Amino acid sequence: MGRGWFITFEGGEGSGKTTQVRRLEEHLRGGGHEVVVTREPGGTAVAEAVRAVLLDPAQDPDPLTELFLLEAARRDHVERVIRPALERGAVVLCDRFADSSVVYQGLVGGVEAATVERLNRLATGGLEPDLTFVLDLPAEEGLARVGRRNGGGSGNRIDGHPLEFHRRVRDAFLELARRGGRRFRILPARQDEDRLFELLLDELPEELR
Ligand code: TMP
Repeated sequence: MGRGWFITFEGGEGSGKTTQVRRLEEHLRGGGHEVVVTREPGGTAVAEAVRAVLLDPAQDPDPLTELFLLEAARRDHVERVIRPALERGAVVLCDRFADSSVVYQGLVGGVEAATVERLNRLATGGLEPDLTFVLDLPAEEGLARVGRRNGGGSGNRIDGHPLEFHRRVRDAFLELARRGGRRFRILPARQDEDRLFELLLDELPEELR
């Protein structure tokens, strides 16, 4: 069954996921792999529209409403982009995936874990990443990076949540990674991006190195 590799990147705001995704993309292309780079929420027209609503500071959906929006986006994304790519044998690099819902809407937002799991399963049809990198960074540092990126202001609606929210996000990702089993790799993101990328490469399966 020509199945490719499904690799996801998780972590708080400003943890450097996007940079590492780009670097890995380049590395894998250089090795002759077909690589699909995508993100959540997003990756299809429908899901990008959901992203715009979800991150709009003028909106104020509660965590369960957020979850329904995210799962609609996720379903479209999995069916139209991720699954077909994996069936072709591509390597899919996804900037956030279902674990972000477990953390943001579930562990931090207060939606019951069983509800998040059930909706995740419905949206993904049971598809799970082969490997998940959690980029770990103190919340203050991540937010400072986001602030610099946005010229001082907070960027989107979720970045703009209070520091305490982002501290809980960090703790929740660590907890999830520790109890989540073999697919998780925690990477200490508080170092320069070259070194971080070396650590990431060390964790890749042989055929992708
Ligand atoms: P980012 O991709 O630029 O980090 O922004 C996406 C935002 O959406 C981020 O603040 C986390 C949030 N999010 C959730 O709350 N739940 C989810 O399931 C996903 C995929 C993202």
